[in-house]
Amino acid sequence: MASLLFAVLALSSVGIAVAGNFNDDFKITWGDGRGRIVDNGQLLSLSLDKASGSGFESTHEYLFGKIDMQLKLVPGNSAGTVTAYYLSSQGPTHDEIDFEFLGNLSGDPYTLHTNVFTQGKGNREQQFHLWFDPTKDFHTYSILWNPSHIIFSVDGIPIRDFKNMESRGVAFPKSQPMKIYSSLWNADDWATRGGLIKTDWTKAPFTASYRNFNANACVWSAGTSTCSSKKSPSASPSNAWLNEELDSTRQERMRWVQKNYMIYNYCADLKRFPQGLPPECSVA
Ligand SMILES: *[C@@H]1O[C@H](CO)[C@@H](O)[C@H](O)[C@H]1NC(C)=O
Repeated sequence: MASLLFAVLALSSVGIAVAGNFNDDFKITWGDGRGRIVDNGQLLSLSLDKASGSGFESTHEYLFGKIDMQLKLVPGNSAGTVTAYYLSSQGPTHDEIDFEFLGNLSGDPYTLHTNVFTQGKGNREQQFHLWFDPTKDFHTYSILWNPSHIIFSVDGIPIRDFKNMESRGVAFPKSQPMKIYSSLWNADDWATRGGLIKTDWTKAPFTASYRNFNANACVWSAGTSTCSSKKSPSASPSNAWLNEELDSTRQERMRWVQKNYMIYNYCADLKRFPQGLPPECSVA
């Protein structure tokens, strides 16, 4: 009930737009110097060598947002490495919205792994290859999280739309604030071809870079949200994302990606769910 009330409040108010500076919005949390913020806060890099990976997290917590980040992934032979970029709340019944980039041998495609956890429960993996080389340039990876949808996009093209299916008994993340996290680490026990291909440490250090963070989001602080404290009218263009959903053109694009680039979909994995697919899978 409280969270429903919050959702209503959020819808009737305004989010704040933050054109990011990494020095203000993030802190490097581990890696003993392997994570760096440079260029006056315009660029962040993480690196991994045999001794350690590295990671960062946002200074703010958010409860709903439209969050863009540009990433340039580890080039060359990145097999065994994983670059995770995700939103997560705290605790055993946490919510989480994941992008994970699983490295590969030179010339073989990265796997973009996505998942949504609600109340501590995940098991909602969808994986994709990309239609470009994600190591040559920066590309934009976005999460739109509002009370009705979690939409994952790559360069503005939606790849996944996790809908609020509470009416069918599926929990939806809407009351636990989340921070943004990222880390680069060694996962060669499973990441590349199921762990068959190991990290080539002669190629270390491995480096991934981040820039152009932009959050149009409700910042959560001491139990209140910037979205519920403002009295602005709901029609303001800056908070349109709180009601955003995919129009037919963008749905068409998402179908194109899913048809051509999706390599795993839990909703099609009948072997894994012999008792029946999860309820959210019955809705396109
Ligand atoms: C690596 O490349 C192989 C061969 O193209 C592909 O099957 C696989 O999905 C790629 N990604 C990972 C993480 O293994």
